[in-house]
Amino acid sequence: MQTIRGFRDILPEHITLWQKVEREAADLFESFGYREIRIPILEKTELFARSIGETTDIVEKEMYTFEDRKKDKLTLRPEATASICRAYIQHKLYASEPVQKFYLFGPMFRRERPQKGRYRQFYQIDAEVFGVESAYIDSELIFLLNELFKRLGLTGLSAHINSLGCPECRPAYQQALLDFLGERKETLCTDCKRRIEKNPLRVLDCKVETCREALKGAPTTVDHLCEACDDHFKTVRASLIRQGVDFKVDHALVRGLDYYTRTAWEIQTTSLGAQSAVAGGGRYDRLVEELGGPATPAIGFAIGFDRLVEVMDQLGTKGEEKALDLFIVPLGNAAMDLSYHWSCDLNREGVRTDTDFRGKSMKALMKRANKLNARYVLIAGENELKENKAILRNMDTKEQTDIPVDSLVTDLVNIFK
Ligand code: HAM
Repeated sequence: MQTIRGFRDILPEHITLWQKVEREAADLFESFGYREIRIPILEKTELFARSIGETTDIVEKEMYTFEDRKKDKLTLRPEATASICRAYIQHKLYASEPVQKFYLFGPMFRRERPQKGRYRQFYQIDAEVFGVESAYIDSELIFLLNELFKRLGLTGLSAHINSLGCPECRPAYQQALLDFLGERKETLCTDCKRRIEKNPLRVLDCKVETCREALKGAPTTVDHLCEACDDHFKTVRASLIRQGVDFKVDHALVRGLDYYTRTAWEIQTTSLGAQSAVAGGGRYDRLVEELGGPATPAIGFAIGFDRLVEVMDQLGTKGEEKALDLFIVPLGNAAMDLSYHWSCDLNREGVRTDTDFRGKSMKALMKRANKLNARYVLIAGENELKENKAILRNMDTKEQTDIPVDSLVTDLVNIFK
C-alpha cells in the first residue's frame, strides 16, 4: 500500500524542523495576543463555495467534495479562513469581545497537480484577526510574518503588497480594466477570455507570456482607490517602512480567493521554482457579514508550512532533536524487570529515559544508545546486580561510576536535576 498521489508522510527525522517552526510561530503569535483555535477538517461545501468564490480555481476544480450517507455535500477544507469565520459567527465570539485574534496549524486539501512545493494535502500556519478596521493591523500582520521568518533564519524572501479596493471603488476599477482588456481580448489565452466574463481581476495574475505582454500598461487598482482605501494603503506602507519591513507594491497581485478587500499580500521566494508564494493573506472586510454574521472587518494570512520547511531545508537549517538523558542497558531477566520500573520512575521525575526489552547483547544495546544520542547509559549487568549496583557511563567522557541499586532512582534524579 502506498500513499495516494499528492499526499505524503512526514517522518520523524524531518519533524524536528516542523516542530521548531511551530514553537517559534506559537511564541510569536502569543506574544502579539493571538490564541490557538482548532476547527474541523470537514465542513459543508457551501461554506467554501460562498466564501472563496464559485469561479475561483479552488472551488471550481480543486476541492475534495463528496456526499455522505445522508446526501449532505461535504468538503475537506481547502483553507482555514472560511471555517474560522464560521466558528466566529457560530459561537457569537463577537458578543464577548469584538476583537479576536486566532492562530492555527493544520492540514488543508486541494486537488492541484502535484509538483515540488505543491501537494494535495499540505499544511498551513494561519492567523486571523476580527474586529479591527485600522490599517495598523494590516502592517502588524505583515511585520509579524517578517519577524517570524527572520527568527527562523530565512533569507531571500520578498513581500509583495497591493490594495484591491472596496465595494465603493472596485466597480469603477473593474470597468476601467474591462475597457482595457476589451481592446486586447484576441491576444489573451482561453482561460483569460473566460475570466473576463466571470472574474476579470484574475486576468492580472495570469502567468501566460502573451497575456503578460497584453497586460503591459493595464490600469492598476492602486490608481483607482477611493479616498478611504487610498489613505488605508498609505498608512500600511508608511508603518511598514517605519518598522524597517521591506516590501514592494505589486500591481499584478490579486490572490486566488474572492473574499479580499483592500490590502492583500504574498511573501515570495525564488528558491522553489514555480511555487513562489510561501505565504499569502489579506483583508476580507465583507466576509463575516456575507456568511450571516454582523458586519465585521477582518484580516489574516496563511503560511505554506511545507514550502517554508523546504526553504529552510535548502538553507541547511536543522531542527533540534532532544537527546535522551539516559539509556538503560539491561542484561538478563532480573535486570529487565528493574529497568522497566527504573525507566517509569525516572520518567515520572522528569529524567528522559529509555530502555530496551528485547534481551539483546551489551554490544547491540550500546549501539542503540549511541543511535538515540543518550547522554548517559546505565548498565545493569548480572554481576553488578549481584553486588547490588549498576554502572553509570558518561557517553561523552566515557567516565564510569557505580550507583547503588537501593538508592538508584533518587541518585539519578539528583544527577540529572
Ligand atoms: P492561499 O494563498 O491560497 O491563501 O494559501 C496560502 C499559502 O498556502 C500559499 O502561499 C502557499 O504557500 C500554501 N499553499 C497553497 N496551496 C498549496 C499546495 N497545494 N501545496 C503546498 N502549499 C500550498 C489562503 O489559503 C488564505 N486562507 C490565506 C488567508 C488567511 N487570507 C486571509 N486569511
